Amino acid sequence: MSKRIRKAVFPVAGLGTRFLPATKAVPKEMMTVVDRPALQYVVDEAKAAGIEHFIFVTGRGKEVIENHFDMAFELESTLAARNKKEALELLKAERPGAGTTSFTRQQEPLGLGHAVWCARDIVGDEPFAVLLPDMLMKHHTPCLKSMVEAYATTGGNILSLEECDPSMTHQYGVVATGKTISEDVFEVTGMVEKPKPSEAPSNLFISGRYILQPKIFELLANQEKGAGGEIQLTDSMLRLAKEDPFYGVRFRGTTYDTGTKLGFLQANVAYALDRKDIHADIAGELSAIIAKG
Ligand code: UTP
Repeated sequence: MSKRIRKAVFPVAGLGTRFLPATKAVPKEMMTVVDRPALQYVVDEAKAAGIEHFIFVTGRGKEVIENHFDMAFELESTLAARNKKEALELLKAERPGAGTTSFTRQQEPLGLGHAVWCARDIVGDEPFAVLLPDMLMKHHTPCLKSMVEAYATTGGNILSLEECDPSMTHQYGVVATGKTISEDVFEVTGMVEKPKPSEAPSNLFISGRYILQPKIFELLANQEKGAGGEIQLTDSMLRLAKEDPFYGVRFRGTTYDTGTKLGFLQANVAYALDRKDIHADIAGELSAIIAKG
């Protein structure tokens, strides 16, 4: 039987250059979507998938992330003294329990593969999840939950997959698929980084959630720099695929890349419209803004 997925790695050490100057002093993962940091949504997704330990690979200037997931003792005691029960309950519900978070520093932003490798000692010898915190994946069934469920049947390694317009494959890591395991679960037989549309094996791309076997750490340890001069996770996954199967789970929801200006604004609108408490106000205000041009 496959080992349970208990730990998740959140690589949050990137520079966020596509969202400057906002990310000069504020980590992009802490940019607010409606009323919580983008990273909080992704941690909630991991919790909903049964993750018990949250590992953050951070860097300089990202201390605010550690503070966000800690108990704010003065704030909580002030809220308690003022009988602000609702706010207090909200903070308590969203805070991971004592001893369930770990923080390590990447030191240099050498790429996603390197960031994941930095978590090796904290993950240890067990399969684990990786969630890219700037990708908000919105669906009634959390993406990682579907992947954990598929993993219970398949074992191996699992990637979240999404369909792109076939003319856009050059922007993504695209997979070749083999046998269909169930409606949205496929064997992955190949991965190509940013193929031209004419050379792409499909229009299914890897979209920001992974379940990986710990063997990946050995491969990452001696991984050469790849595209963009960075240590790429995909390069080590390709090597891992030679000895351990990969499967893909098709995500049927909507993904927002909050690391880009457009994706960030789209996420704010979509998540705000999804909130019962503010839906009507937001919908009305948006219509008014559009009408004014
Ligand atoms: P991105 O490539 O989207 O993040 O990596 P980035 O490098 O911060 O973005 P730009 O291109 O400069 O705007 C996806 C995730 O991996 C993390 C990022 O923080 C982001 O959450 N990452 C990336 C690291 O932790 N370390 C790295 O060396 C690179």
